[in-house]
Amino acid sequence: MNLDGSTEVYGVIGYPIRHSLSPVFQNKAFRHFSLNAVYVPLEVKPEEFHTAFYGLKALGVKGVNVTLPHKERALELSDFPDHHAKAIGSANTLKFSSEGVYAYNTDWIGFLKALKKLVPELKGLKVLLLGAGGSSRAVLYALKREGSVVYLWNRTWQKACMLCEEFECQVVERPEEVLKDVELIVNTTSSGLREEDRSLFDYNLLEPEHKVMDLIYRDTPLIRSARVKGCECKDGLDMLLYQGIESFRIWTGIEVPYHVVKDAVLEYLEHF
Ligand code: ATR
Repeated sequence: MNLDGSTEVYGVIGYPIRHSLSPVFQNKAFRHFSLNAVYVPLEVKPEEFHTAFYGLKALGVKGVNVTLPHKERALELSDFPDHHAKAIGSANTLKFSSEGVYAYNTDWIGFLKALKKLVPELKGLKVLLLGAGGSSRAVLYALKREGSVVYLWNRTWQKACMLCEEFECQVVERPEEVLKDVELIVNTTSSGLREEDRSLFDYNLLEPEHKVMDLIYRDTPLIRSARVKGCECKDGLDMLLYQGIESFRIWTGIEVPYHVVKDAVLEYLEHF
């Protein structure tokens, strides 16, 4: 990488940010097209986000991805939020220009592209969605656009009810209530990040016909149990890559081939 006076700066802003794989594959994408640009991790505490947002603008940074816990604030502070981001209520991609800051949400696109490899036809599909946080909103938005029927479960019942009212889906008190009726199970909760996390439901009740997707991008107890049961499964890595491909397209107008970003991440993970 040759940095010089005209190198464009991009990055990912979050707290914490050390675990992020985005710098790995976004820098690979810039190199692949010989673009004079660099993509850096930007760790910003919640109370500093406002200052950082205007700082990025003043510094002439071209674009950033935004991750936890700043996605809602990023949308609020932007000048031109796109209608998908507004409907989801958060932005994960900002593009800085002389007219102002454009805000997008590419999580829902990343989710759909990844999911369609597992389930090509989503119309009428019965889905059990676990979780009612920020990523659940993007997933719900995507599924409802595709015409899926969503049953939503969340640890905090009230949050599930609020989301269901907004996106017209059905709240369930326990995931087990609808397991027999659904074809797809999607986990958007952070449960499973740590091995000691309790199961979200009795994983012994999974059937080989269930398709299972977990937004966490490595094996979780849910994914492992599903595999043992013979279910087709997918972790969150493809969603991460596809949302990143879409952000890259927004910034540069260029579509990065999937294999370029996938290989970059696999190579990185092999060494760390
Ligand atoms: P994200 O943007 O990744 O969705 P978030 O908005 O903080 O993050 O939402 C986290 C989600 O994971 C919530 O649905 C949360 O449930 P609550 O609304 O009850 O807090 C869920 N979650 C986190 N830890 C969990 C656990 N141990 N068991 C079940 N759900 C959990």
